[in-house]
Amino acid sequence: MKHNFGAGPCILPQDVFQEASEAVKDFNGLSILEVSHRHKDFVAVMDEAIQLVKTSLNVPEGYSVIFLQGGASLGFTISALNMMRDSKKASYINTGVWSKKAMAEAKKVGFEVLECASSGDHNFNYIPKNIQVDSASDYLHFTSNNTIFGTQFKAMPKSNVPLICDMSSDIFSREINVSDFDLIYAGAQKNMGPAGATLYIVKDDVLGKSTSSFMPTYLDLKTHAEKDSMFNTPPVFPVYASMLNMRHLMKNGGVQSAQKRNEEKASLLYNEIDNNPLFKAAVAAPDRSNMNATFLMTDESRTDEFNALWQENDLVGLKGHRSVGGYRASMYNALPLESVRVLVDVMKHFSSKG
Ligand SMILES: Cc1ncc(COP(=O)(O)O)c(C=O)c1O
Repeated sequence: MKHNFGAGPCILPQDVFQEASEAVKDFNGLSILEVSHRHKDFVAVMDEAIQLVKTSLNVPEGYSVIFLQGGASLGFTISALNMMRDSKKASYINTGVWSKKAMAEAKKVGFEVLECASSGDHNFNYIPKNIQVDSASDYLHFTSNNTIFGTQFKAMPKSNVPLICDMSSDIFSREINVSDFDLIYAGAQKNMGPAGATLYIVKDDVLGKSTSSFMPTYLDLKTHAEKDSMFNTPPVFPVYASMLNMRHLMKNGGVQSAQKRNEEKASLLYNEIDNNPLFKAAVAAPDRSNMNATFLMTDESRTDEFNALWQENDLVGLKGHRSVGGYRASMYNALPLESVRVLVDVMKHFSSKG
């Protein structure tokens, strides 16, 4: 068995892989890949997927759950366009690559983008605090978990303007209070399902209020909320597999239990990083992500030796992103505690050889 620490697309539960592959061969007599999205059997899948998002995240009344295509990268544009109001100023907290890309798209749709806080002075290795938001902003946007740098907001920022969050890499990993947000979006390929679907949770009050003169039909969230995510052909298979994964999540205690398991995995690994003289964490302790742990070697001359050792032990996906270097262990919901134990044992063994 391989231990998949990849940052995404990533590991999903084995029984989800099993059930999804069976549906490729037989989904009520057809393949899930050929069934019409208008057929009642798939409409039931979409309804259940939407319902499972609502139940697992305690989505209150007055919010719509939407599945689209385009990834979180299209979410950068969709969120900006849908939340544009009179001021055409938008505030962004810059925690690195993903926030920067979101800011760039907001500029393209005509916003004056205000970077109200940034951790760029230390290569994004912490989460900015004491954020002051211009109260004229149409919204405040932030990335709850920076997948590349391994930082995570432990407390969500407070804001006097509507709050938008790119939750791509930690949605379903911990409890959240949806009513704090006007809009949440997330690419599926971490804790939800395979790549190809993008989740939007949007307050109904904000739909149809954009002041943008440019609003293609597909980019208007109102279009999709009114058509229950069936305006055009939805990503049938990713929605199906996401639905199976959310069923699995609920059978295993829901988001609350997932959060406990994720905290246990993260503390096991960070404890080893902090106590093993050959490694050091890349991120300030209070801001370390429970999803993506980034760490460096203290003696880089032993890099090849360490790389050979973890690869021999069937660990995959550990190489760090080029902007940080070193290693990144992604520990999404489906990664078993056992895989983290194997990684920790490899690190211990490595230091005992030194
Ligand atoms: C936090 C975050 N935002 C946005 C993206 C871009 O997502 P997509 O590839 O779905 O466009 C990623 C991809 O890994 C991400 O981690």
